[in-house]
Amino acid sequence: MLRRALLQASARCRFSSSSSLLLASRRQCSSSSSSSQVPEDHFVEQSVDTPQTPPSATISVDRSALYHPPDHSHEPTADSELVKHLKNIIKFRGGPITVAEYMEEVLTNPKAGFYVNRDVFGAGGDFITSPEVSQMFGEMIGVWTMCLWEQMGQPKRVNLVELGPGRGTLLADLLRGVSKFKNFTESLQIHMVECSPALQKLQYQNLKCLTEDGTDGNTEKKCISTITETPVSWHMTLEQVPTGSPTIIIAHEFYDALPVHQFQKASRGWCEKMIDVTENSLFRFVLSPQPTPATLYLMKRCRWAETKEIAGLDHIEVCPKAMDLTQEISNRIGTDGGGALIIDYGLNRIVSDSLQAIRKHKFVDILDDPGSADLSAYVDFAAIRHSAEEFSADVSVHGPMTQSQFLGSLGINFRIEALLENCTDEQAESLRTGYWRLVGDGEAPFWEGPDEQAPIGMGTRYLAMAIVNKKQGVPVPFE
Ligand SMILES: C[S@@+](CC[C@H](N)C(=O)[O-])C[C@H]1O[C@@H](n2cnc3c(N)ncnc32)[C@H](O)[C@@H]1O
Repeated sequence: MLRRALLQASARCRFSSSSSLLLASRRQCSSSSSSSQVPEDHFVEQSVDTPQTPPSATISVDRSALYHPPDHSHEPTADSELVKHLKNIIKFRGGPITVAEYMEEVLTNPKAGFYVNRDVFGAGGDFITSPEVSQMFGEMIGVWTMCLWEQMGQPKRVNLVELGPGRGTLLADLLRGVSKFKNFTESLQIHMVECSPALQKLQYQNLKCLTEDGTDGNTEKKCISTITETPVSWHMTLEQVPTGSPTIIIAHEFYDALPVHQFQKASRGWCEKMIDVTENSLFRFVLSPQPTPATLYLMKRCRWAETKEIAGLDHIEVCPKAMDLTQEISNRIGTDGGGALIIDYGLNRIVSDSLQAIRKHKFVDILDDPGSADLSAYVDFAAIRHSAEEFSADVSVHGPMTQSQFLGSLGINFRIEALLENCTDEQAESLRTGYWRLVGDGEAPFWEGPDEQAPIGMGTRYLAMAIVNKKQGVPVPFE
């Protein structure tokens, strides 16, 4: 009933507003880890064995299908500040760095990281994410959030945390969708966990924020989203978000940006893949000659797997930051109550070799011009489950289920029907395309445009998982 009420309320509210349905529903995103101190010359060089504009504007790439080997090109160019920085780390350490260390610097280095200084989701961007595909995504997450709040007993105060909010689109759509439910919106305190100052500014704009001065000189300035008059604050990490209130955490395409360590099976056992600099000053992969600190995480991950699962693998990725983050989430939810929703592309088992780089809608070499391409890796949902269950007896883990099942069970079909009742032909086409992208599998069968622009469904490649305080029971739609 609640789901149905939410869907109807948000349908009315969207069409009574002056905002453009077309823009909202067919947005297109064209969009430290451990280190080894082993001397450089002990490393073995690794052989390459790696296994809202209209959609016509550019070819959008969502990152979940990126298993293609990239083109290699190591043409000499002047080193960027980030490349110089990476080479300096390797030089002063006297040895290579881990892939995780490289990934973290490339994505989030405070001066030159990929996410830090720009809107990577704009018309000149690199890839597409679900909230940018259609308003329906954020609205469905709003339905999930409100249902959980109901299950939590409608607390008067709730921290709503988004990890890695990108442009802030998901939360803006969520707030518009639930804006009629005052008891809910009045309980919310929004916390954005975002490392990029450029994206923080964009989030501020998209949430239609205003900053209110304190009433006297001593009171802190307060930021309010005028969509629902909800207080909003920004943090660099989840640890900085205040504890003590029930908390709902949303992590959409956040885990895939966390740095992974890569291991490769060699005759001497599992070796960590590291990144070094050649005599010609080019980055190259090497294998560690002996166990590295991250080997402890590899061992932990393998203990959670069956022997036959590991026996078939030559490569394994582990993400200690994902394990640590999951423990932090479980600790918070176990103590304060609430739940977390994680949606990402990934597998419900060990991930082998998934790290990929994309620049301007093209696959590129991971080592090419670091900082100018997005790096992401498949999420290991089984490791998230084990991390949560091992850390806290007060939380339960549900899923993963496919994005298609998740959105379908929450009522996305009713939502699109409601939207289609009152829109132009052009808007209807964009709604159907967005819907297919969110829940479809493969190329859209109804597509009549150029093949290379056919909408590709994210419905089965993206998975949804929930971690909730056991007191809340089983969250929708995982019953
Ligand atoms: C792939 S984008 C996803 C954006 C958004 N959730 C969406 O689906 O459109 C990753 C987001 O996480 C942020 N991010 C990545 N690593 C981070 C970190 N270590 N700490 C905080 N934010 C981070 C990025 O700046 C960006 O906002």
